[in-house]
Amino acid sequence: MLVNYLNDKLPSKFKNSFSGQSIALYIHIPFCEHLCHYCDFAKTANFGSSQVENYFSYLEESFDAWHDFLGKPKFQSIFVGGGTPSLFVNEYEPLMQKLRPYFTNDAEITIETNPKHINTKALVGWQQLGFNRLSLGIQTFDDTGLKELTRKHDSLLAEQSLSLSKSVFENVSVDLIYAWPRQTTEQLQLDLLKIAKLQPQHISAYALIYEPNTPMHRRLLRGVVDEVSDKLQYDFYQMIQSSLAASGYCQYELSNWSKPGFESRHNQTYWKMETYLALGIGSHGFLKPTAKDIGLRYSYPKSISLKSLNTLNTIDIEIEERHPKDYFQEAVLSGLRYKKGVRLDSLAQCYLPSSILEGLQKPFQYHEGRLTLDQKEWFRENYWIRKLFDLANI
Ligand SMILES: C[S@@+](CC[C@H](N)C(=O)[O-])C[C@H]1O[C@@H](n2cnc3c(N)ncnc32)[C@H](O)[C@@H]1O
Ligand code: SF4
Repeated sequence: MLVNYLNDKLPSKFKNSFSGQSIALYIHIPFCEHLCHYCDFAKTANFGSSQVENYFSYLEESFDAWHDFLGKPKFQSIFVGGGTPSLFVNEYEPLMQKLRPYFTNDAEITIETNPKHINTKALVGWQQLGFNRLSLGIQTFDDTGLKELTRKHDSLLAEQSLSLSKSVFENVSVDLIYAWPRQTTEQLQLDLLKIAKLQPQHISAYALIYEPNTPMHRRLLRGVVDEVSDKLQYDFYQMIQSSLAASGYCQYELSNWSKPGFESRHNQTYWKMETYLALGIGSHGFLKPTAKDIGLRYSYPKSISLKSLNTLNTIDIEIEERHPKDYFQEAVLSGLRYKKGVRLDSLAQCYLPSSILEGLQKPFQYHEGRLTLDQKEWFRENYWIRKLFDLANI
């Protein structure tokens, strides 16, 4: 029984500790039709309908166990990510039935999707289930780039899926990857022109990361592909910044842009390091510490096999205590890449006293309890953070 497992595993001080509060929830769906060569997320293409059925039952049971343990909090954001959550529609109904009574009135409920699965029936189905935000993994509108990234859709489908998604959902986000092998400024320009034309409400744009132990990384080690130079990567980033600003987007984090009012509530939970519950293989959750007391990070194992999918109830979660000082350092690191900066509450005052804050000079700014870093310096954040922590002797 998962309830007993959590009662034994978690410190009892967390029992009912989120009763009456609104938190965030992440749910991981690890199934993919095809494995992209750059991807390091928890995923598998080796599964059948019985593993899918098992997995959804496990998510439902895990939700009940965690939710009861924490004192039945409400959810102000839910993000179903993957893997490829868009492989499924009706399979979500029993899980959503459990979740629905706990949505706050204005909850943001996102499903992560692949262009190949976008059609009117699926879009309407997700909407009827309660999803009100769609995140679409376009990556690039360029056919050469899609091949380099080993994606299975083409540029026409990328464009069509975005237009169709926008005709049903009022809040559509697009994932882009830039700095893929041999990408030119003209090719990036094409992506930015498509965005200007199609106007999704939100964009996340990440430079390609060569994650260790992925086929893409092996190609890099063999010299088959080269990493885009730091200089060109920075030029790309600046092109993205200026083009998206000209197309009416506001950059509210290092890699995230939105139309006014469409900033992702769920992503902000991570950057502000607020509490989020996580369910499913490869996911990790966070119970925020207070000024006086420890918090907790927990994670589900990332590796997936047919055997683990058939014996989900024996999965062990790893837990790690988070002490206020570590939490504070991480929260500043994460918050300084965020336009609104980091709110320095009573916890922060222990580590960054007013005498230091009030003497801070550009590119830092300290105003009405918030510490911000000039947007132009987000790219060099680690350098500035070190300076700040040296000043405070942490
Ligand atoms: C884990 S994927 C899931 C989305 C969905 N399965 C898809 O492929 O469209 C979430 C997003 O992470 C980004 N991503 C994944 N691996 C990445 C990498 N190695 N470098 C940069 N971005 C990456 C991609 O933009 C992707 O859309
Ligand atoms: S990028 Fe998406 S579709 Fe590709 S392997 Fe990763 S999770 Fe699966």
